[in-house]
Amino acid sequence: MGETRFLMCAPSHYDVDYVINPWMAGNVHRSAKAVAAAQWQQLQGVLAGHARVEQLQPQPGLPDLVFTANAGVVVDDRVVLARFFHPERQGEEPWFQQWFESQGYRVTLLPADLPFEGAGDALLDRSGGWLWAGHGFRSELAAHPLLAEALAVEVLSLRLMDKRFYHLDTCFCPLSDGTLLYYPPAFDFDANRLIETRVPAAKRLVVEEADALAFACNAVNVGRSVILNQASAGLRHQLERRGYDVLETPLSEFLKAGGAAKCLTLRLDEPCPA
Ligand code: ARG
Repeated sequence: MGETRFLMCAPSHYDVDYVINPWMAGNVHRSAKAVAAAQWQQLQGVLAGHARVEQLQPQPGLPDLVFTANAGVVVDDRVVLARFFHPERQGEEPWFQQWFESQGYRVTLLPADLPFEGAGDALLDRSGGWLWAGHGFRSELAAHPLLAEALAVEVLSLRLMDKRFYHLDTCFCPLSDGTLLYYPPAFDFDANRLIETRVPAAKRLVVEEADALAFACNAVNVGRSVILNQASAGLRHQLERRGYDVLETPLSEFLKAGGAAKCLTLRLDEPCPA
């Protein structure tokens, strides 16, 4: 396995400028710039202790470009780029495309009218070798077969039900040993059944609503480290019992836009599933 790499984008132009998810409502221009900058630096510092962090140049007028998880979904040297559901974020697409092309990735573009929001809605399982893909709010189910084709990977579709958890990565996090950290009420009945058939009970770590609302599932996992905004004592204990180090790094200013640790990063060295 090569070096672990992530893509991040500094919050120089970050703010809550519009409302495209419930977290942003009531928070327009309420995020404190200096605090956001310090929180982002701290996250980057923690991550840099575990991986190489690549930088995407911030762009004026694109406040959500910091959420690089939405750039696309990466498997090996291939990437399927995002098609944003909301016009507010569509201006990000060419910047992500340019970056991936400059790095030599094989880039797949979806039809312009087919919403799909990258690794926000597409997460590789760490043990099984398939891609979990969310739909219902930002990504269209019809995009899923195109992901399977472009990335040569099995895709399992999960329907999201709760608008507070509008991206898969807000409520679902596959960890390195096959443990799944997730919040079941965010998914419909069929999605829950599918999760239960693929992930044995002993590997399912269900989080309480309070942890889910603190974006505990929006975690960055590198090896045995789990980096997140906040975890209750109970959740920390359960993760530690399974051998994980829990690293909390506060991200309150980004929660105001509906994102936290995982949303602010994109894993770039995703190995081809077996
Ligand atoms: N304000 C952004 C949006 O609503 C937040 C994106 C969070 N990203 C994520 N991967 N969950 O699109």
